[in-house]
Amino acid sequence: MCGIVAYIGPREAYPVILKGLKRLEYRGYDSAGVALLNGGIKVYKKKGRVADLEESIVGKDLHAHAGIGHTRWATHGEPNDSNAHPHLSNNGKLAMIHNGIIENYAQLKRELSTKGYIFHSDTDTEVLLNFIEYIQTNNNCGLEEAVRIALKRVVGAYVIVLVDQDNPDTLIAARKGSPLVIGIGKNEHFLASDASPIIEYTKEVVYVNDYEVAIIKADELILKNLGNERQTPYITKLDMELAAIEKGGYEHFMLKEIFEQPQTIYDCLRGRLDAEAGTIKMSGIEKYAEQIMNANRIVMVACGTSWHAGLVAEYIFEELCRINVEVEYASEFRYRNPVINKGDVIIAISQSGETADTLVAIENAKAKGAIILGVVNVVGSSIARISDAGAYTHAGPEIGVASTKAFTAQLAVLTMIALKIGYEKGTLDRDRYLKLVRELNDIPDKVSTVLKGSEHIKALAEKYKGAGDALFLGRGYNFPVALEGALKLKEISYIHAEGYPAAEMKHGPIALVDEHLPVVFVATKDSYHEKVISNMQEIKARKGKVIAVINDGDEQSTALANDVMIVPEADEILAPMLSIIPLQLLSYYVGVAKGVDVDKPRNLAKSVTVE
Ligand code: G6P
Repeated sequence: MCGIVAYIGPREAYPVILKGLKRLEYRGYDSAGVALLNGGIKVYKKKGRVADLEESIVGKDLHAHAGIGHTRWATHGEPNDSNAHPHLSNNGKLAMIHNGIIENYAQLKRELSTKGYIFHSDTDTEVLLNFIEYIQTNNNCGLEEAVRIALKRVVGAYVIVLVDQDNPDTLIAARKGSPLVIGIGKNEHFLASDASPIIEYTKEVVYVNDYEVAIIKADELILKNLGNERQTPYITKLDMELAAIEKGGYEHFMLKEIFEQPQTIYDCLRGRLDAEAGTIKMSGIEKYAEQIMNANRIVMVACGTSWHAGLVAEYIFEELCRINVEVEYASEFRYRNPVINKGDVIIAISQSGETADTLVAIENAKAKGAIILGVVNVVGSSIARISDAGAYTHAGPEIGVASTKAFTAQLAVLTMIALKIGYEKGTLDRDRYLKLVRELNDIPDKVSTVLKGSEHIKALAEKYKGAGDALFLGRGYNFPVALEGALKLKEISYIHAEGYPAAEMKHGPIALVDEHLPVVFVATKDSYHEKVISNMQEIKARKGKVIAVINDGDEQSTALANDVMIVPEADEILAPMLSIIPLQLLSYYVGVAKGVDVDKPRNLAKSVTVE
């Protein structure tokens, strides 16, 4: 979703900003723009890709030592050149970029219109900018003060960065809800929505907090709250290498990330799981272990792929810990009036740690006395910071819009928490605990084995790429895998796909089955296997094309299926970390075969920072 980059310092600002915008492309966007301070303010913006913007301004005077840049994911107003950011204020002296939504923009716009303000776009951003300009002019105050006054009236979420023609040595930024990172260089500062545009210049960063305003000069960073009190900037060291955000020889980030999974799952287990000693250390949650054990219920709150990880975890926690678990879409949970009792444990699952719905859902739950645990990938992100405790997934930066390695890392973390709690609580006996600990330790190697079958899956993708619809079915632990498989296919190939519990398929989706419909069964050997075979037979009897994810040697399934994808055997609790891999590959290869830009599929955003 919208990406923000800004620079102030001795370098040429434009190349830094442009490169930064390219690094943020993965977030998803539909237009791009820059504003450069060079005497006056020069604004260039364009619908389409950053490369289209770049091409459209070749030959212009782009010299500047301060500037702001933006990739916009349309919310208010269609993607076009005039709605693209940066916006210029009516007097032409201020330019601003914004990530988030100003909810009371319509009212502000009415007020400004009566005062003669003219709007050139349909955006809420232009309204806020002119509101700031109006306050500045009316109160005869500096930009910083005008921003603070304006933000007190604003309802919604934002990161904004402004430049002022009359103060070209200063950038003003502010945040509430959406993310903002400031990189500290030598007499220079870099601003961005996440660390990826900053990492090649400096590893020292400050994460701006909600309701803080940053006043940034090349050699000075001042943070204040909206009450004009100075705040101490807390400098964090980035634990990330540039290579992690580059393709490293792979054609796409998504493929790189799928193939990284043996390593990312290993990284996630490392230092926590000791298979020989049979121990699991989760320092982040130790302090809350007792409360989790005694919780009446655990609520998993998440969106998208992370929600699917929550569903797998529901099965695991209920089985191993005998605790009632509910899995909630964050967007629903935050708006209804959920019953939350003191001591309820909420587990927020999020790759980015910035998903607006998840963030607000846990803020609300925290205010009602729940304990918040975060299972988050991005270190220092908003969800990580608001959580009482938690465990990072350590999957490294995930750039491909469709989540892959973050999902398996989430499963690894959630499984470790469940194993630990179940064992300490006594609901999981020692033998089974030790068996699961050892098997979990073997998962990275087994994922490598699955990946060796990628060429076969590529061939299957060629065979099925023409499908208009697809059905994904599974039961038990593999039901959420079917949901995730369907989500991957639709995200990356634009084929309509539905995931369903295999048995429930009889209550509707079976009406779709004919000789053209590919039906993907997630049918590894588990306690539901015989039942899944019966469901496969029901599809076969109606001439559906059965593609099955199975374990080697499963003759029954092989006989029924038109095609199979093999994964090694594992305990059913751990099987999803393996059975999802062929489905990720299948979606990837179908998407590529159909010519989809798989790393940046249309309309999708990596980090959904608006509700
Ligand atoms: C977006 C992404 C998905 C992701 C979901 C939740 O829709 O495209 O890949 O699963 O947001 O994101 P989170 O960062 O909270 O896991």
